[in-house]
Amino acid sequence: MSETSRPTVYIETYGCQMNVADSELMYGTLAAHGYEAVDVPDGADVILVNTCAIRDHAEQRVIGRLGELRRFMKPSTIVGVTGCMAQRLGPQLLAEKKTKHVSLVVGPDGYRALPQLLDGARGGERGIFTTFDLEEHYEDVTPRRADPVKAWIPVQRGCDYRCTYCIVPYTRGSERSRQLHDVVREVREVVESGRTEVVLLGQTVNSYNDGTHDFADLLRAVGGVDGVGRVRYTSPHPNDFSERVIEAHASVPAVCEHIHLPMQSGSTRVLKRMLRRYSRGEFLACVDRLRAAIPGLALTTDIIVGFPGETDDDFRETLSAVETAEFADAFTFKFSPREGTPATRMPESETVPDDVAGERLETLIHAVRSRSRERNLQLLGTRVEVLIERVARDGALLMGRTRDWKTVLVPGDAALVNSYHTVELTGTTGGTFTGTMVATGARTTTIPLAVIG
Ligand code: 5AD
Ligand code: SF4
Repeated sequence: MSETSRPTVYIETYGCQMNVADSELMYGTLAAHGYEAVDVPDGADVILVNTCAIRDHAEQRVIGRLGELRRFMKPSTIVGVTGCMAQRLGPQLLAEKKTKHVSLVVGPDGYRALPQLLDGARGGERGIFTTFDLEEHYEDVTPRRADPVKAWIPVQRGCDYRCTYCIVPYTRGSERSRQLHDVVREVREVVESGRTEVVLLGQTVNSYNDGTHDFADLLRAVGGVDGVGRVRYTSPHPNDFSERVIEAHASVPAVCEHIHLPMQSGSTRVLKRMLRRYSRGEFLACVDRLRAAIPGLALTTDIIVGFPGETDDDFRETLSAVETAEFADAFTFKFSPREGTPATRMPESETVPDDVAGERLETLIHAVRSRSRERNLQLLGTRVEVLIERVARDGALLMGRTRDWKTVLVPGDAALVNSYHTVELTGTTGGTFTGTMVATGARTTTIPLAVIG
């Protein structure tokens, strides 16, 4: 950093959308203290890695990446680890040889302290901030949003469920909700900035409660903000889908016909051991209630295979639940033991061998994809509303999404990013669609159906 120029900061983000939102808040906090954001680590004055602790694999990737980042460091560069892994490992990260170039460790509730901690680090101090702060919502911080189309909006932090496999309650603390009027204020600002899609974020987002308002109130308030075209939320818990919430989802036109509803397992026995607090039957009943209320609803899910004690029969239950629930897609994971969680205290004899878990994973992925491919083929020739999100990776096409979360690639000019179109679906690889635009500016917030034509 020269005497006159502003210090630069680069943040690399791993994990969930909450982390993406947190990185935007970190950039915002640091911008307010004179830092300039840069998009590459090369030569940055500050490099922060915002991490995930959900599976061991996620942590190993970060450790590897931290090693790689060394080569971008100047002698004065400060490297910090933030997020869930920072919270989980704390001082261990400063002590380990592999990460000894790290001088800051800051958990999810400590980002306000970043400017001071960085000042300290410049003076040679190594700093740790891993205290939970149940009041912290970063209300006064203006996030630096990287996405020109949609805005990630945390509405709730932490988690009060205690699923036996999950590290999140330990890395993000107890559940707390933002005040509804603060969320609405942020949504208004988002619309003023030209974005029309908002994604409400929380660990169990539909248990949102600010003391006066529940998630149904929040959906109505956010969906009622002038100029909001699409409202999404992630991730809900099945048990928090009250009739009020379902009705609000169904009746607010801007709320999209897609729900990411983590199932985790289709076996009641495994669900019980996971402490998911619902049975297979209750989960499927929730799916039925949602489908009955929201025409055209697409459901996606998260599933873990190889949870301790999972038998072939249990796994078959998962396969059949996938079939019954007709998920459009699923994120599938092999169980990863997380230190300190109750699942690690289950008898060792119940550990599912890695090769068995691997086979189950493959079978599951195949089942999800082949069913979804069949259903997608049937959609060819229909017309859908697509919001163009960005230029596709190969640069020749635009990537957009339907209200029900399908990815559609269409030919078009980059200037069309952030506009709504009616698109005819012409092809599918099974997952992704190709299509052609048949009408422009087809924004239809008053038509709640995913399929228009
Ligand atoms: N092992 C494997 N997958 C996990 N998830 C959460 N904890 C674990 C774990 N210990 C999955 C769940 C969750 C998603 C974000 O990650 O499916 O919904
Ligand atoms: Fe990963 Fe969970 Fe933390 Fe998100 S909240 S970064 S998924 S551990």
